[in-house]
Amino acid sequence: MLDTLTIRTQRTTASRLSQLDASTLEFGKIFSDHMFAVDYHDGEWQEPQIVPYGDMAVSPANSALHYGQAIFEGMKAYKNADGEVALFRPLDNFHRLNASAERMCMPTLPEELFMQGLTQLVRLDSAWIPDGPGSALYIRPFMFATDGFVGVRPSNSYRFMIFTCPVGLYYNKPLRVRFEEKFVRSAEGGAGYAKAAGNYGASMFPTKKANLEGYHQLLWTDASEHRYVEESGTMNVMFVINGRIITPALSTSILDGITRKSVLQIARDWGLQIEERKISIDEILKAQAAGTLQEAFGVGTAATIAPIATIGYRDQDYDLPPSGPDSISKRVSQALDAIRNGRSADTHGWMVSV
Ligand code: COI
Repeated sequence: MLDTLTIRTQRTTASRLSQLDASTLEFGKIFSDHMFAVDYHDGEWQEPQIVPYGDMAVSPANSALHYGQAIFEGMKAYKNADGEVALFRPLDNFHRLNASAERMCMPTLPEELFMQGLTQLVRLDSAWIPDGPGSALYIRPFMFATDGFVGVRPSNSYRFMIFTCPVGLYYNKPLRVRFEEKFVRSAEGGAGYAKAAGNYGASMFPTKKANLEGYHQLLWTDASEHRYVEESGTMNVMFVINGRIITPALSTSILDGITRKSVLQIARDWGLQIEERKISIDEILKAQAAGTLQEAFGVGTAATIAPIATIGYRDQDYDLPPSGPDSISKRVSQALDAIRNGRSADTHGWMVSV
């Protein structure tokens, strides 16, 4: 990629890299040395910069804090066996960020600003990319309103930033999830398809209740009938019934996951049957009872592929068969890892070198 945009870069004089222990990485707790930041005001994006990672000052009346005008992305960079660094489908994140920005009345970003900020930051901190199994550099682009103004209207000023974290696995064991029939993550016509901060904040209370009942995550259902599955936790979700992959079709209440579409593409390449449609609690429980529910798994950037071991419904738990080496979730997960780590051909052009 050409460096066509000059980004003023202030390198840290106190790198924390020597303190990194890549063998004990927990998700999202360690931050690489630098971050990218660019402000928006007077109707345009200002001069971008890369500075040492650290706290920053914002107005207490900052409207992101009060009204939640804040959006984010999650993406990853990988290192192959030759030490080459590549991003997975970054333009898909770029387009989704701008779709989220439009939904939240925020300014969109030019592609060059996003891609150059991303690639120059990842290149500068490439020594932070772990290369152990399941590990990667998690990248968090985000944008928030910065007006110090208490009235409710779209902010006139914003900041777009990117920081990165070396990460290991998000979930280290198969999940226990349960159908949620009271609370909703989003409704048709809401902002569920956007990666808006408030979607995640509002999910915490019902998720905490499920955690106290012994579940890792919820299976969110639709807002009008609580009958059809939407997502699981912060992931899209897929079921394998009678050898067919069934996943909820996209809607205004479901996030257009990049891992979701990558998994579906790989499954299509393999000639597997895929159905993107509504799938009800009833259909899932009937398949479980008939022994035709072979697999269920969450798919997301942070979690990659997270097999589901148990599904709770009302007061009953329903177990799924253990996900063995021949399971679709395991095979797709290995295929994705091989593309990301350069061990198999990137036939869809998903990897972008940094
Ligand atoms: C992701 O998978 O990147 C997410 O956004 C999930 C999460 C850590 C909020």
